[in-house]
Amino acid sequence: MVSTSAIFAILSLSLASFTQAQTCTPCEDVHFFLARGNNEPYPGRQGDLVAATCDGLSSCGYENLIYSALFTDLSCQTTYDGVLAGFKQLTSYAERCPKSKLILAGYSQGGQIVADILGGGGGVSFNGCIQPSTPALDPTTSPGNRLSAVIIFGNTRHTANQPYNFGNGSSFDGLFPRTDAAMLTALDKYTPVLRDWCLEPDPICAGNKSDALVSTHLGYYQHYSNEAADWIKSVAGLKDKSDHQTVIPTYVSGTVQDYATVANFTPSGSVIPAATTVPVVECGDLPANSTSTSSNLSTSRSVTTASSTAAPSTTSSSVLPASTTAAPTSSATGATGSNGSSTSYAANMGLVVFLTLLVSILA
Ligand SMILES: *[C@@H]1O[C@H](CO)[C@@H](O)[C@H](O)[C@H]1NC(C)=O
Ligand SMILES: *[C@@H]1O[C@H](CO)[C@@H](O)[C@H](O)[C@H]1NC(C)=O
Ligand SMILES: *[C@@H]1O[C@H](CO)[C@@H](O)[C@H](O)[C@H]1NC(C)=O
Ligand SMILES: *[C@@H]1O[C@H](CO)[C@@H](O)[C@H](O)[C@H]1NC(C)=O
Ligand SMILES: *[C@@H]1O[C@H](CO)[C@@H](O)[C@H](O)[C@H]1NC(C)=O
Repeated sequence: MVSTSAIFAILSLSLASFTQAQTCTPCEDVHFFLARGNNEPYPGRQGDLVAATCDGLSSCGYENLIYSALFTDLSCQTTYDGVLAGFKQLTSYAERCPKSKLILAGYSQGGQIVADILGGGGGVSFNGCIQPSTPALDPTTSPGNRLSAVIIFGNTRHTANQPYNFGNGSSFDGLFPRTDAAMLTALDKYTPVLRDWCLEPDPICAGNKSDALVSTHLGYYQHYSNEAADWIKSVAGLKDKSDHQTVIPTYVSGTVQDYATVANFTPSGSVIPAATTVPVVECGDLPANSTSTSSNLSTSRSVTTASSTAAPSTTSSSVLPASTTAAPTSSATGATGSNGSSTSYAANMGLVVFLTLLVSILA
């Protein structure tokens, strides 16, 4: 199954996955749940989107849905685990933080996880594996009715011509389009707050076509984070507070696997139901709604904010979102566990070149 393995390789964006304890952070006014792409570290490319959205907001942050994104793990298992983690983490946060606005976001395989949460999951995926069915999230009760915005880029299960599709890839199917009418009906209900963003040259969400460009799939957050953040703020009714400046850590997008070897690692097999164990969040007597707290080893963190009143010449948004191609600085979070981040740029470019070749072979 060369083609399947190769496409899996396209999704395998980086080699890093770290198991970390989920910790409890104070309630934030705006809280993201991030489903990362295959083989990305936490939080992956979506860090840029969080940065762009949180900038100007005084209380805003994220947590990662906890699941292995390793390309060496069965994709049906990791997607299924991500869906279960999403249910659990969304429910828990929504109960604990009744005033927070919740934003669900996913990239690539993580985009599938997000849509599986909303519309129901299950079906065939890479290497013919079968992902067990999971139910759709009820949009009329918590946490479904707490979602202020849901945004997906490069969805592996992108399905043509849905009302929430966005971008010039909207009329194309991705690798595993949904054929289950019940799933599509369930997803439709989220249309007012949902955007499933896909550009035509993306081979993952817009079909395996002759003009496919992997760089389109890898570049969404570099190019569209600000536009996506504007949409999120608009649909979620968020207003910038100019006296707050977001301090954003620079994220490492991930070190990169040697893609020549991916096919040797891509497994097939059966999912172990409910294998996932999402760490229980222990909140104790943590005061809700305090600011500037974050654990450097946590998979979640509050984006720290600073009042600009003491800083004379700052503009309202002087911090640029981290670029996925800029040589990343090692951030204080320690959350990615990346070693030798300065190699990341070269490795990413190597990946792009390799994947471009791969796609041209496939096409
Ligand atoms: C945080 O506190 C502010 C001001 O006290 C309040 O307006 C806001 O609703 C609180 N946010 C949450 C998520 O509780
Ligand atoms: C789709 O839109 C993107 C972004 O504007 C653009 O780069 C790309 O060329 C467009 N694709 C086609 C086939 O026009
Ligand atoms: C995390 O923070 C603690 C205390 O703030 C510090 O002692 C520790 O070295 C930090 N760890 C990392 C990896 O930065
Ligand atoms: C980190 O990088 C150094 C030098 O580049 C290497 O010797 C070491 O094995 C790496 N450590 C890990 C954990 O990859
Ligand atoms: C992609 O398209 C080409 C030509 O149409 C085909 O030979 C190849 O099997 C396709 N690959 C996948 C993964 O669908």
